[in-house]
Amino acid sequence: MKQKTKVAVLGATGFTGEKLVEILIDHPAVELTYLSSHSFDSVNYASIFPKLQKKIDIVCHKLNIDDAIAGSDFFFLALPHTVSMQVAPKLIAAGKKVIDLSADYRLHDTKVYEKFYHAQHLDPQNLPKAIYGLPELFGPKIKQADLVANPGCYASSIILALAPLAKQNIAGSHCIIDAKSSISGAGKKLSPNKHYMHVNNNLWAYKPFLHQHLPEIDQTLNSLTSQQLSFTFVPHVVGVESGIYSTIYLKINSKITQKQIAESYQQYAKENPFIRYLKPLPQLKDVVGTNFCDIGFSLETESNNLVVVSCIDNLIKGAAGMAVQNMNIMADLPQTEGLI
Ligand SMILES: NC(=O)c1ccc[n+]([C@@H]2O[C@H](COP(=O)([O-])OP(=O)(O)OC[C@H]3O[C@@H](n4cnc5c(N)ncnc54)[C@H](OP(=O)(O)O)[C@@H]3O)[C@@H](O)[C@H]2O)c1
Repeated sequence: MKQKTKVAVLGATGFTGEKLVEILIDHPAVELTYLSSHSFDSVNYASIFPKLQKKIDIVCHKLNIDDAIAGSDFFFLALPHTVSMQVAPKLIAAGKKVIDLSADYRLHDTKVYEKFYHAQHLDPQNLPKAIYGLPELFGPKIKQADLVANPGCYASSIILALAPLAKQNIAGSHCIIDAKSSISGAGKKLSPNKHYMHVNNNLWAYKPFLHQHLPEIDQTLNSLTSQQLSFTFVPHVVGVESGIYSTIYLKINSKITQKQIAESYQQYAKENPFIRYLKPLPQLKDVVGTNFCDIGFSLETESNNLVVVSCIDNLIKGAAGMAVQNMNIMADLPQTEGLI
C-alpha cells in the first residue's frame, strides 16, 4: 500500500485553514501531521472546532518551523499575505512541497505586488519557481511544481469563467466584472464592517478599480491572448455565509454564435471535473459546500453583447478545495481525490 503523504497546515485556525483540515481529514492519501495557529498554542484542534471531535486528535501549535519541517513533507500555507513569504523560503530550502493560499507568490512583478498589497516583497528569489495554481489552465506545470500559488477567490471565479473564450472569441474586449462575495472572503479578523449587524441583509461595493485580485486576473487572462483584454472590476460584499457570484459583461469582437460559445463551455466542462456548464444561468446555492465552478452565459447576437456568469464557494473552489486539487495533481493522484 502506498504511504500516506505527511501534511502540515499552517494557519489551520483561520477560515481557509479550517476548511482545509476538514477536507484533509477524509482524504485517503493524507496523514495530517502538523497544524499551526497564531493564538492557539498547545491546544487540541478538536477543542477549538468541536464539530471535529472524534474525527481528529492532534495538538495545534504556534508555528515552530523546525518542528513543522521535521514531521511533514507537504505544506499548505493558509496564512496572511506577507507571513507566507517569511515561511515559504525555509520550506523550499528543506525540499518540501508548498501550496500557498496567500497572494505572496501569485504576481510575477514585485512592483505590482507592492502597489496592490502595500508591502515590500520579501522573497523575489523564489517567485520564478511559483506556478499559478489554477488546475484547469496550468495542470502540467502544477504537476512539476514545488511551490504553487493558489489563486485568489474572486480571481478563480472570474478567470475560470473567461478562460475558454480568452484566446480567440473575446480577445481585445473590455470586460466589466460585477462580483459579489461572502464576507468570509476577508478572513476571521474582525473589523467594524465585518460584524453581523453590518453584514446581515446588506450589500455594498468596495475598491472599484483597486481590488488586489485585479492584477492576477489581468496577468493570467492576458497570458492566454495576444490581443490585450481590459477590465473594470467592482467587487461587492453580500450577506451570505459562503460563495462568490460573478457577472461579467462584454462585447465580443467576432461573429460568433450562441452554439459556438455553448460548445466551448461544454468541451471545457468535459475536460475539467470541477467545471459545470449550466443552462439556465447558475445559482450560488448549488456550489456552496462543493469544489465546483458553475458557469453559464447569455448572448445577444444582434449587438454582440455577452454576459457570462460564474459562481463558486470562496472557501472551497476559491481556496481550500482548489489547494487540495493542486496537491492531488502534484502527488499524481486523480484531481477529484478527497473532493467529491
Ligand atoms: N477567506 C477566503 O475566502 C480566502 C480565499 C482565498 C485565499 N485566501 C487567502 O488565504 C489566506 C488565509 O485566509 P483566511 O481567510 O483563512 O485568513 P484568516 O481567517 O485570517 O486565518 C489566518 C490564519 O493564519 C494565522 N495567523 C495570523 N497571523 C499570523 C502570523 N503572524 N504568524 C503565523 N500565523 C498567523 C491565524 O491564526 P489565529 O487563528 O490564531 O489568528 C489563522 O490560523 C490569506 O492570505 C487569504 O488572503 C482567503
